[in-house]
Parts: sequence; C-alpha cells; structure tokens
Amino acid sequence: MELRLNFLQAAVGTAAPSEIGGALLIVGAFLSEGQLVLTTSAAQIDAEFDGIISSRFERGIFSAKAGSTQYLTESEEFPGGIAVLGLGDVAAFSAQVYKDALEKAVSAFSWSPVQAFTAVEWLPNSLKDKASARLFASVTLNALTKRTALRSKDDDKPKTASVLWVDARPSKKVLAGLEEGRITAEGMSIMRGLADLPGNVCTPSYLADAAVSAAEGIPGFTVTVLDEQAIAEAGMGAFLSVARGSVVPPRFIALEYLGGKTGEAPVALVGKGITFDAGGISLKPAANMADMTYDMSGAAAVIGTVFAAARAGLKINLLGVAAACENLPSGSASKPGDVVTSLSGKTIEILNTDCEGRMILADALTWTARRRPELMIDAATLTGACCVALGSPYSGLFTADEHLLTALSSAGRASLDEVWPMPVGPAYEKLMKSNAADIANQASTREGGASSAAAFLSVFTEGVPWAHLDIAATANTSGRERASTGRPVPLLLQFLFDRL
Ligand code: BES
Ligand code: MN
Ligand code: ZN
Repeated sequence: MELRLNFLQAAVGTAAPSEIGGALLIVGAFLSEGQLVLTTSAAQIDAEFDGIISSRFERGIFSAKAGSTQYLTESEEFPGGIAVLGLGDVAAFSAQVYKDALEKAVSAFSWSPVQAFTAVEWLPNSLKDKASARLFASVTLNALTKRTALRSKDDDKPKTASVLWVDARPSKKVLAGLEEGRITAEGMSIMRGLADLPGNVCTPSYLADAAVSAAEGIPGFTVTVLDEQAIAEAGMGAFLSVARGSVVPPRFIALEYLGGKTGEAPVALVGKGITFDAGGISLKPAANMADMTYDMSGAAAVIGTVFAAARAGLKINLLGVAAACENLPSGSASKPGDVVTSLSGKTIEILNTDCEGRMILADALTWTARRRPELMIDAATLTGACCVALGSPYSGLFTADEHLLTALSSAGRASLDEVWPMPVGPAYEKLMKSNAADIANQASTREGGASSAAAFLSVFTEGVPWAHLDIAATANTSGRERASTGRPVPLLLQFLFDRL
C-alpha cells in the first residue's frame, strides 16, 4: 500500500451567472403551503424555458420536497445542463435542511464534471453568508469525496471535479467561508481516508509513516514518532500494556504545527488510535467486531484536523497527538488483574482489557499536558455507553471547563457537527477505585459508563483545561454499510476558526 494522506481531490469556486459555461446549473425551488415558490434563478429558467419547472410541479413530476432533484434540459447557453433541487417548505428551511439537500444534489448529479449551485439565493435565515458559504463548501466537497482506495477497479471514482457557488460579486466573507469549508472538507477527507482503511493496512506505523511523509514541505510542521522502545523509555506503561498483546508494534505520534505567534502555547488535540480493538483477553463477541477497524477514528480526526489547518497556513499553534496500537489477545497480552505504572506515576489495575482506550489516552494526556498547551481536547471512540446515551446526533462532550463547554457547543452548532454535554467529576471518579492500585480501568458499575470513563481520563490531565469528546457513535456508521463520517473534524476546525 502506498503511504499517503487523502488530500482533497475536488475543488470549490465561485462563478457569476454569466460565467457558468459548461457547468451543470442547479437552481433551487421552495414550497409554501403546498405551492411552488421559485428562487430568482429558478424563475428565470422557468420563464425562459416555457414553464419547465412549474409545469412539472403541476403534473406531479417534481415535488420541490427537500432533497428532490430533477434534470431539466440543456441549451446553447447552458451546454452543461440545467437542474432543479427542491428545498422544501420555506418555513421549515434551516441549516440542516440546506446541508441535506446539498448532499443529495451532489450525489444525484455526480455525473456532471462541474456543478454550479445558485446557493446564494437559498441562504437559511439562521446562517450568515460566511457560515452558509462554509457549509456549502464543506458539505459539497465532502459529498464528492468517495471511498475508493481498496477497490481494484476505479470506475467508482467521482467524475465531478468541482462545485461552484453562483454569485455575481461574492463578498470577502463568502470567499473566506468557502475557504474554511474547503479546509474542513480536506480534514474530513484525510480522516475518512485513514479511518476507512482496515486494520491490516492502517497499522500504527502506517499512520506514523503517512504523517511523516505528508508533513514534508509544510512550513512550521514537525512530526515526532516514538517506537516501542522509545515509548517504554518514556515510561508509558499504560499505553504499552495495551500494545503488548500484538506483534504489530505501537507508535506514539506527535504533530507540531507552529503557524501562530512565537512562544504562544499551542492548542492540543489528542486522539485514540486503536487500529483494531478485539478487546484483548477480555475478548469481544464476534458479531460486528469488524466495526472496531474504526477504533482509531480519534487519531484520524486529529491527523486530519492538524494537517488541514497546517496545509492552509492557519495562524495558530497546534500540537496533535495520536497514540496508536492494536488491542489483541495473545500469550503476551495483559491480563485482567494486572497492575501497570502509567507515565504519570499512578498505578492502574487492569480489570478489563477491553477498556484499552482510556489506558492509551492516560499516557497520551499526561505526555501532552507536560508540554503545557493552552488547552487539550481528546477525541476517542471510547464507550458503547455513549452510543446508548446519545446515539449519532451528538458526540458526548465531557468537560469541567466553562470556556471549552461554551466554545465547543457553539462550534458544534455552527458546523452541524454537534455535541451534547455529559457529566464528569468526582462522583464518577470514585467508581474507579481499586484495591490493588491507585485506580482501576473499569468502573464498579456499568451505569454511567461514558462518564466514569471520562472521569478516569480526567485523572491524567495535570490541571490543563481539558475536554473529552466521546465519538463512539458519531465517527462512523456500523454494520455492513459501515463508513467513516469525518466527524468530529468539522467541530474541531470550527473551534479553531472561531479563535482566529
Ligand atoms: N472501542 C470500544 C468502544 C466502542 C464500542 C466504540 C462500540 C464504538 C462502538 C472500547 O474500547 C470498549 O471496548 N469499551 C467498552 C468498555 C466496557 C468494557 C466498560 C464498552 O463500551 O463496551
Ligand atoms: Mn475496547
Ligand atoms: Zn476501543
């Protein structure tokens, strides 16, 4: 396998209505109390082509329901064709409807090499033009990013090369929004490209080597990789206790990007990088075990976010950390009852080897906190309990820091990659008591499992402002159709954009 990060292949741009040229022009149509409401462009097309939209609506061929699409015609003026996209009821239109409709249109018209959306006329009331443009770019470009790496034939490759935002004179804000959206889609593309790879391909060294080679030539970017011996010498006994069950060696990966002020403390992002989680000696059941290919989604999100930010030259200092290893049962694997010493010096009793994410994150958080970042945010597919609690609409947000609570909640709303606050604190920490060591890796009860896991992590944060994102349900879908969603990259990048 070629070692690479999946940089964005598709492009976003702007075009004046007169410059659409060979692109497929997509106009929008709303509904109001069951009646068709045409946007300005749609009304022009309808008038020019003898009621091509309104007559189809009357005949029941085009419903204008949100996400409904229809190819209309082509002409000398529009050789690339004209299509209409239903935007649904005006009163119900929102950022979420806008996003879903854009996604549907991009897939429906993926045969067109360039799609031009008159999206400027669709701006949801809830969004300013910059936010609208950002969402337009991230959603359309992400929808164009297809998973093809492991197909032997490439007829699945997307044919659409670019999307255009149709606007006679796009404002600076719109252009800035499109660029932020492009950065977001690139981060998602990198994350999805890694997370969609199976465990036999995307090993810890694959992650490390891909990061090292992708960093070449990016100003201010350094990658540091610790191998098994260096991890041991550093004293990361909790991380190593997970890695030792596999013959595939672990890697500790640190990405440093200095794009901000000299000497300014970085924002740190920490990711769980279990490249396959079989559960270890506390073996998982066979059903859906393949889903655990995605147990490195946190690491993939961190790598995607930091590379997208760095390649775009954002003026910010970032520290991205990924702890990567496999969690397998074997003769050398850790056993329930084993006690290990973490980097922090605290001893941990391993009661369940399937609670491995918190073990590797304990050392990753201590290592990161000792670099004194301004704050740290970890992303981890940490608990099934968080899936049960929230499902996929929201990632679980665990923090005792008011600023991070507000900033991440609002970044989530702006990027439509939302979080919901969950409790963390001493009431949960006391469930992690151990008779044998300073702390146990499994709580004394299953109840509140997402919060007790978060409370375990909090013990290793050394006073640095910290938030934990449990992305077990949001980072990927499960079962036969399983795929990476690219979340929480939009959330993390929005959090960074909001600080610029
Ligand atoms: N990687 C899993 C969590 C997970 C479960 C992610 C389902 C995505 C979907 C984690 O390492 C794990 O195994 N957690 C256990 C903890 C339990 C034994 C306390 C879990 O949630 O079952
Ligand atoms: Mn596990
Ligand atoms: Zn896991």
